[in-house]
Amino acid sequence: MKASVFFTVNEVDGAVLQGHTAIVIDVLRATSTIVAALAAGAHAIFPVVSTEEAIKLANSLGRADTLLAGERKGLKIEGFDLGNSPREFTPEAVLGKQVVMSTTNGTRALLAAAPADRVLVASFLNLSAVAEASAGAERLAVVCAGQEGRFAIDDALCAGMLLGRLEERLGSELEVDEAGRVLLTLAGAYGVDPELLHESASGHALAAIGLAEDVDWCARVDVETLVPELRDRMIRRVDDGGA
Ligand code: MLT
Repeated sequence: MKASVFFTVNEVDGAVLQGHTAIVIDVLRATSTIVAALAAGAHAIFPVVSTEEAIKLANSLGRADTLLAGERKGLKIEGFDLGNSPREFTPEAVLGKQVVMSTTNGTRALLAAAPADRVLVASFLNLSAVAEASAGAERLAVVCAGQEGRFAIDDALCAGMLLGRLEERLGSELEVDEAGRVLLTLAGAYGVDPELLHESASGHALAAIGLAEDVDWCARVDVETLVPELRDRMIRRVDDGGA
């Protein structure tokens, strides 16, 4: 396996991703929220970039069974059903529903990765399950969403931990690029350190709006075994036969 890492969505060139399995990471909080939504029984998640597109898609899907979810500056978009705190995505809220989602960084990263042969969604919550699901790939592209176009240590740490899981499994068969080497070292030095996440730009931004609890919630490792996959604009659980 040859693995390459993109530190932010701005680095992603869709043409390069063809032939790859892409893994998209936005720990605080979009990919953590997607895992939470599917774990709570959501039928599917549709990532979109703009608020306008989200509303248009939700209306075309039928609002009776479709929720609008997302954030701008971390807070729920006005008129939406849910924000982007994974803690909102309970079975009572999302069971059987489709969710159209728009966030600042994570949904952009998912759509940027769409040209890849496969697009999997990772977080700390489902880290080992995604490592297992991607271990057979010949070429892997790990896409960190980043924070408004800048390096995000929360995403980087998760990517490094993921590469560490793959290195444990594949040994010398895993080749990583320079960015991957850096993230493996970062993960080896820190492990999953909630304090590091609280001290990240995303962590500070969430604390500033009273959502610091989301950081600890998103730092829980391997609490889920589901693997979300984006296919034809829709994210479903791989084991749900949908993706
Ligand atoms: C994002 O997708 O940009 C993040 O999840 C932002 C957030 O949830 O506050």
